[in-house]
Amino acid sequence: MEQQIVEIPAGQEGARNAEWIAALEAGKVLYLPHVPFVFTEAEKKLLTPDVRDPKSRNISFGADNRLKGGAGDAATLALLAAMMERYRTQAEALLATLAPNYKAVLERGAISYRPSVVENRVQSWRADDKRMHVDAFPSRPNHGQRLLRVFSNVNPAGVPRVWRVGQPFEDVARHFLPRLKPYAAWQAKVMQALGITKSLRSEYDHLMLQLHDAMKSDEDYQKNAPQVTFGFPPGSTWVVFSDQASHAAMSGQFMMEHTLQLAPSKQYHPEASPLAILTRLQGHALV
Ligand code: SIN
Ligand code: FE
Repeated sequence: MEQQIVEIPAGQEGARNAEWIAALEAGKVLYLPHVPFVFTEAEKKLLTPDVRDPKSRNISFGADNRLKGGAGDAATLALLAAMMERYRTQAEALLATLAPNYKAVLERGAISYRPSVVENRVQSWRADDKRMHVDAFPSRPNHGQRLLRVFSNVNPAGVPRVWRVGQPFEDVARHFLPRLKPYAAWQAKVMQALGITKSLRSEYDHLMLQLHDAMKSDEDYQKNAPQVTFGFPPGSTWVVFSDQASHAAMSGQFMMEHTLQLAPSKQYHPEASPLAILTRLQGHALV
């Protein structure tokens, strides 16, 4: 398998290197070992899982500047919100440097702060991100919009965030497409009418969800598919289209993440998007 993690040397992120942009849009992980997100002295007290509401999976700070899933007194919540807003500023500045054409077209999503230990989490196979998958969400159809994510390991004790990164998207799609359930437009309409989905689940969304589930539920694929295991050390940042790169988070604690959306037509290479690849493989329009 071609290398799936591309390291960007210190100070080079502003080089506008067309190869790196193409690698990102081919679903590879851009890894910036020397781009840390640094907690201030005051923020260091947020480095505990106690700041997360046990009922929520993550702490999030939305594009509407609202904090969700935090726990603690008003001062702690204010500190969390300010820290997460600072991460948003840093992550967006990094993206503007790495891929300047995105700046005007990226749609801002939420920041998340993940202070819990990955390997302790017990979950159903479908929710288990320790299984390799591409990101796709049952209630939020996106009709081919890209999910671009910036991650930073902020662990204070030297613990890496360990991921597995799998095969290129087209290989995954070719492997699973023949066994996916066909799309039923009437079911999509019913789900929308019942409020199960926030908008109509397109054939694209159906295929992406089916891919997500088929990957996660296939033990043999999880074990034997081409993959690399990589530990992102504290003090590093990585950028990836998570709807395209096969990924799994195996272990680690304390990570920041920012999600942004992008129309595939606004990419440098629209033909590399999952929408374009799936459309080509299926031979008809999917949205
Ligand atoms: C995921 O996006 O699947 C999980 C990433 C992480 O928590 O490291
Ligand atoms: Fe994921």
